[in-house]
Amino acid sequence: MRRVLLYAFVLVLASLSLPRFVDSSDRCKAWLVQSNPTDMPELPLIPGVLSTGDVFQWLANNSTRSLDIIAQYWQLLASPKDPRSGDFGYSDSDLQQFGAHLGSLVYKSIDSAANRNVSIRLLSHSGVYPEYTKEPSDLANGRPNVKNVTLLLSKWYGSGIVHAKVWISDDRDVYIGSANNDWKSLTQVKEVGIYLSGCSQIARKIKTYFDNLWRLASLDSSVHTRNASDQQWLINRTVPCWSRFIPSKARCKSPLPSYIETPNVSPGYPPLSDPEMFNIDIGTLPRNRSCQETQPSYLSFAPPELLFGKHQSDEQGWIDTIKSVVEGGTVRINTMDWLGQSQYTNPTVYWSSLSSAVSQVVFAKNAKVKILVAYWGHFIPATDGYLRSLLYSNVLCSSSSVQSKCFGQVEIRYYMVPGFNKTGPAVRNGTKTGNLYPGYTRVNHGKYVVSDVRAHIGTSNLVWDYFYATSGVSFGTYNIEFVLKLQEIFDADWNSPYVVPVQEFGQDV
Ligand SMILES: *[C@@H]1O[C@H](CO)[C@@H](O)[C@H](O)[C@H]1NC(C)=O
Ligand SMILES: *[C@@H]1O[C@H](CO)[C@@H](O)[C@H](O)[C@H]1NC(C)=O
Ligand SMILES: *[C@@H]1O[C@H](CO)[C@@H](O)[C@H](O)[C@H]1NC(C)=O
Ligand SMILES: *[C@@H]1O[C@H](CO)[C@@H](O)[C@H](O)[C@H]1NC(C)=O
Ligand SMILES: *[C@@H]1O[C@H](CO)[C@@H](O)[C@H](O)[C@H]1NC(C)=O
Ligand SMILES: *[C@@H]1O[C@H](CO)[C@@H](O)[C@H](O)[C@H]1NC(C)=O
Ligand SMILES: *[C@@H]1O[C@H](CO)[C@@H](O)[C@H](O)[C@H]1NC(C)=O
Ligand SMILES: *[C@@H]1O[C@H](CO)[C@@H](O)[C@H](O)[C@H]1NC(C)=O
Ligand SMILES: *[C@@H]1O[C@H](CO)[C@@H](O)[C@H](O)[C@H]1NC(C)=O
Repeated sequence: MRRVLLYAFVLVLASLSLPRFVDSSDRCKAWLVQSNPTDMPELPLIPGVLSTGDVFQWLANNSTRSLDIIAQYWQLLASPKDPRSGDFGYSDSDLQQFGAHLGSLVYKSIDSAANRNVSIRLLSHSGVYPEYTKEPSDLANGRPNVKNVTLLLSKWYGSGIVHAKVWISDDRDVYIGSANNDWKSLTQVKEVGIYLSGCSQIARKIKTYFDNLWRLASLDSSVHTRNASDQQWLINRTVPCWSRFIPSKARCKSPLPSYIETPNVSPGYPPLSDPEMFNIDIGTLPRNRSCQETQPSYLSFAPPELLFGKHQSDEQGWIDTIKSVVEGGTVRINTMDWLGQSQYTNPTVYWSSLSSAVSQVVFAKNAKVKILVAYWGHFIPATDGYLRSLLYSNVLCSSSSVQSKCFGQVEIRYYMVPGFNKTGPAVRNGTKTGNLYPGYTRVNHGKYVVSDVRAHIGTSNLVWDYFYATSGVSFGTYNIEFVLKLQEIFDADWNSPYVVPVQEFGQDV
């Protein structure tokens, strides 16, 4: 088990209305959380970063009243005996080496919270082949204190899924990040998230989002959706009837109890000029006396119909973090997928929001932008074209000189976790496949961006659908120690032997 608790941030609630002293139980602390795949000997461990497997167990083990989990799907227990599973055919000792026991520890910790009569709510997408809703159903089975629901966002948006990965324990401790409720996410997939402990103020806001999703699951989508002619993305698509993509006269009142209305702006959801920032003071433990200014933090959410008006959209969270870079500074972006379009709509939406922000800071701030994109067993082929077109900003930048020279630069690398092309069941139709790792593993799956001054950690892949039709949650902060720690995580990957540069057009060997 990994070294823990070396590095802590304290977010002391410093709202002006609170007295100067803060009760220790109300002390909000934040840690970065990682999963690193096995068999990556040349990847340095970053001190003070917690392990996802530990944090998930703590969230369940420490809960006394409530535990709310948003998951795309559940596979905490490995299924080496199920021929339909990507785990099929691996031996007990293989699974031991893969670290599969950690998944069952997490499962057991939720199971024992259920036995302690903790009030548990499990919200998921329909799950994945072959088990779908088995684990949350088993946990709920025969227990009045455990509730499980499936939310199909495709009924609300025509496509899209529940993709946020969020845990809320006792309305106080929170995980937000890239890790699925899957044993492989603990030891076979590279993940980044954040653990907030003792943060009831922040937990309450995330709970509002949870409650809105929970409410959607019990509503009849056929009554509450419309086909809108979306003037921002130039596509006809299904949206909730209160969406701002529908002209105001045709819009319904939102049935969500915690929906925030905004002034009448159309079409869609423009960036907020004044998104909510928490008045909390972040410092290290023990507190660094010379560094005590209050640094703002925020949450962002997708899709925008679920919580808007106060909190920024997830897309704005990403763009504003890219644009926060200082003159001559560096932006670091880590993602599994990168596409300048949609993946699941028909017709396809063209989406230049992020690439445009990247090119803008190359020109306007002479920024260096480093982007790490996953290359793995389920790589999307169109990615390469979008990345190369982004690299063309370098040519435009250096030839743009009218008065002052543009010194900005985009650099992009593919991240290849060793073994990425040997994943899948060990045996298929009675024949050995030669695979070395289970299906859907050996991938860099974290989703974050960090400039010199601001860090943003999310749950969404960088593809249109995740921002407009799929559920996602991010936490961001201007805390400088947090920013530096996240840069350290990125640099360890960027400088590892597991990356290869993406070639510009015309540079193929
Ligand atoms: C969580 O609690 C279980 C007992 O319910 C214990 O076996 C396990 O070690 C605990 N996990 C952690 C990380 O403390
Ligand atoms: C949760 O449990 C872990 C391990 O038992 C402990 O180290 C941690 O401080 C606890 N967190 C909270 C918020 O109580
Ligand atoms: C479980 O908790 C609920 C309230 O949350 C309570 O009504 C019920 O009596 C509890 N059950 C047991 C067995 O303690
Ligand atoms: C919830 O769990 C029950 C078993 O307790 C199962 O019958 C049901 O299908 C599950 N519902 C969803 C929506 O997953
Ligand atoms: C929206 O359009 C789809 C297909 O174009 C159709 O099947 C569906 O019934 C329409 N929904 C509404 C609410 O009009
Ligand atoms: C969307 O539907 C409207 C009529 O409902 C039609 O006039 C328009 O051409 C369609 N737009 C697209 C982009 O398909
Ligand atoms: C405390 O913060 C100051 C200013 O940010 C920094 O220069 C100093 O190195 C920090 N000290 C420690 C012990 O981290
Ligand atoms: C798998 O990837 C490695 C590293 O890029 C490469 O050397 C090897 O040829 C690949 N194997 C297959 C079967 O694609
Ligand atoms: C396995 O065998 C069945 C029946 O012989 C066949 O339909 C199926 O395509 C085979 N699957 C694979 C992955 O080869």
